[in-house]
Amino acid sequence: MSTENNPYIIVQDRNGGEMANFEGNKDESLCTQAQDAGAPVPMSCGVGACRTCVAKVISGMEFIDREAVGPQMIDTEDDEVLTCICGIKEEVRPGAEICIRCENL
Ligand code: FES
Repeated sequence: MSTENNPYIIVQDRNGGEMANFEGNKDESLCTQAQDAGAPVPMSCGVGACRTCVAKVISGMEFIDREAVGPQMIDTEDDEVLTCICGIKEEVRPGAEICIRCENL
């Protein structure tokens, strides 16, 4: 698990309160990383089909691979991601930052 050029991740609850901040990795979904960092992002199906884990991307959408883990089965808004299946793109610039606001957190 390389830490070079990995983005910094900020996870907010639905009200914008900061629940976790950490250096992300490119191996796991954002949901799993957030949970490991102490933000209890709710997850149900785990395969991009139910919206339980949905988050609005406040910043850094360009660094997110929406389907890093698997295909998205339901529609979301352009500024939303399903955190159980999205991850960090392989190519990100140093110092990049991603901020997500979890709808059900
Ligand atoms: S937990 Fe169902 S879409 Fe992520």
